[in-house]
Amino acid sequence: MYTLPELVYGYADLEPVISREIMELHHSKHHATYVQKLNEAIADQPELQNMSIQNLLKTLMAGDDSALQRAVRNNGGGHLNHSFFWQVMTPGGSTLHTEGDLYGALVARYGSIDAFQQEFTAAALGLFGSGWVWLMPDLRIVTTPNQDNPIMNGQPMPILGLDVWEHAYYLDYKNVRADYCKNWWKVVHWQQVELNYKSTQ
Ligand SMILES: [Fe+2]
Repeated sequence: MYTLPELVYGYADLEPVISREIMELHHSKHHATYVQKLNEAIADQPELQNMSIQNLLKTLMAGDDSALQRAVRNNGGGHLNHSFFWQVMTPGGSTLHTEGDLYGALVARYGSIDAFQQEFTAAALGLFGSGWVWLMPDLRIVTTPNQDNPIMNGQPMPILGLDVWEHAYYLDYKNVRADYCKNWWKVVHWQQVELNYKSTQ
């Protein structure tokens, strides 16, 4: 069975970028519901219950379309994506080391970190409806709809991701997704993103 991971920071600790109210709802209601519905979907399938969430998604997405696959796609995707999202944020953000490999690779590809962030934000603003923006290990920026994750399409796990569902920002930013995306960089846990990058190289 899958469980809701504890946050390693408090609900109010990402303020003022993300309010306590949003974090509490997002984690204890939205994410918890994905976990609950995922467990319900596989309740009769003991062979699926002890897989890592990534393996479960890879296994089921490779099969034929079914009600089980759809339930796992939405709720298992929601569980994986949110578990990852909490890890790539930290109170006050953390530093992207200018001497590190990721910094150099991003500058080589995008020209500057600022230019990379602008392109990532533009992808978030261009995403219609609910979904996610991802930075991939090869430094491409990709988007997915709903709770899809690139691993469902045979791609590797991203190294950074941004939740652009309205539930992630509406209470704080109303319809102004641009401000949410712009402010979010202040809480990005770059040191974790560097570790994610390193693990893929
Ligand atoms: Fe979310």
